[in-house]
Amino acid sequence: MKSQTAPKTYRVKSFGCQMNVYDGERMGELLAAQGLAPASEGEEAELVVLNTCHIREKAAEKVYSDIGRLVKAGRQAGREPMIAVAGCVAQAEGEEIMVRAPAVSMVVGPQAYHRLPEMLDKAVQGERATDTDMPAIAKFAALPERRKIGPAAFLTVQEGCDKFCTYCVVPYTRGAEISRLYSDLVAEAQRLVEAGAREITLLGQNVSAWAGEDAKGRVTGLAGLIRDLAAIDGLARIRYTTSHPADMDDDLIAAHGEVEKLMPFLHLPVQAGSDRVLRAMNRSHTAESYLKLLDRFRAARPDIALSGDFIVGFPGETEAEFAETLSLVDAVGYAQAFSFKYSPRPGTPAASMDGQIAAEVMDDRLQRLQAALNRDQHAFNRASVGRRCEVLVERKGKLPGQWLGKSPWLQSVWFDADCAIGDLVQVELGDAGPNSLEGRVLLREPA
Ligand code: SAH
Ligand code: SF4
Ligand code: F3S
Repeated sequence: MKSQTAPKTYRVKSFGCQMNVYDGERMGELLAAQGLAPASEGEEAELVVLNTCHIREKAAEKVYSDIGRLVKAGRQAGREPMIAVAGCVAQAEGEEIMVRAPAVSMVVGPQAYHRLPEMLDKAVQGERATDTDMPAIAKFAALPERRKIGPAAFLTVQEGCDKFCTYCVVPYTRGAEISRLYSDLVAEAQRLVEAGAREITLLGQNVSAWAGEDAKGRVTGLAGLIRDLAAIDGLARIRYTTSHPADMDDDLIAAHGEVEKLMPFLHLPVQAGSDRVLRAMNRSHTAESYLKLLDRFRAARPDIALSGDFIVGFPGETEAEFAETLSLVDAVGYAQAFSFKYSPRPGTPAASMDGQIAAEVMDDRLQRLQAALNRDQHAFNRASVGRRCEVLVERKGKLPGQWLGKSPWLQSVWFDADCAIGDLVQVELGDAGPNSLEGRVLLREPA
């Protein structure tokens, strides 16, 4: 590859989960610390980082077509961008990307992106570089300080996964479960609040598996961390995602009843309602143990909004087993949920199981499941009408004077008010649609 002029502008395009969004922000901060400026809206960036996701179908193919599009657009504009592929496809495909896509200068995995600056220097010299090492937690220490961010910020506290659900690539792309140090997390949370965050969502592939030692040297779990973060002045709200049913302890359940800043929301993926399917997925819960767990959260925090993830069409899933998923949905009454068609991931045990389900059957099941989930989401919103709550203002709405924010139950709320991003506005919820509610403003507490 020829040497290239050093890029002056960058764009990071993140796909997939919130941890990828967090990583994308941190990569942006790294590049900014190297003197690059974020490309403005509509402008072609001189360095494009594709921060990819490998969780479902055709992720890799999509990356190659994105690269093709970038090269073509660059040629037409007279300057091809420098391209880096990051994230979980980078980890899974590694060197293969270099072979198939000569336009790519850098391939960097999710645990190695702190080395982007060195890779960028090499790329400018015309040297292509791949780094998919997993040096555990070293990455965080090598990243620059958090810069100005919005009112709702992400903070990765735990990475990786040891659960090995038989359908999932995450244990392979993100490596083993690792908790970041308590002291580093408290410091980063404080920095985020100084930089303008009023809400922090603690992130991890298995966030409830976080463990560490607090300032007094006591071993503590996620609940202990949440209680200590709640003491930060200026931080109004704490959330966490994603949890696994196996790691939910009494202390975390109790925290939902005790810590005012911990929002009444729980995303707890179940995946399926049939115990046979759950066993084949290597999930450690049954439908009944999952429902009992939710009951304990409800006892601690009666208004808690529940969310989940579902997979339809796991190999061997019968119509009767799928019906058990629908029954579980009926029993829970989710406030929101994500549902997916099973996607065979190369190298995972489920990909070679017997009984792969036909596409039409999966389509049909997904439609029926989503109809039930949408019905429940709308019902949850309708039941919220008349509730008074705080909304954290996150952005402007489409119409002049209109603003958008989130309720404690993570519903999107729009309202007309004289306010600013980052304000906490008291509203009464009214007019509920399936995806958002209107708020009538009662009071505004300035940021
Ligand atoms: N760590 C979380 C989420 C991991 S990925 C958890 O344990 O639940 C997010 C969601 O993607 C999963 O909950 C699952 O519903 C879905 N998913 C993962 N692998 C998939 C696959 N091969 N096909 C379809 N959906 C999948
Ligand atoms: Fe994937 Fe299961 Fe780990 Fe979640 S718990 S990341 S679904 S292996
Ligand atoms: Fe996707 Fe990797 Fe997240 S595969 S869902 S970006 S952990």
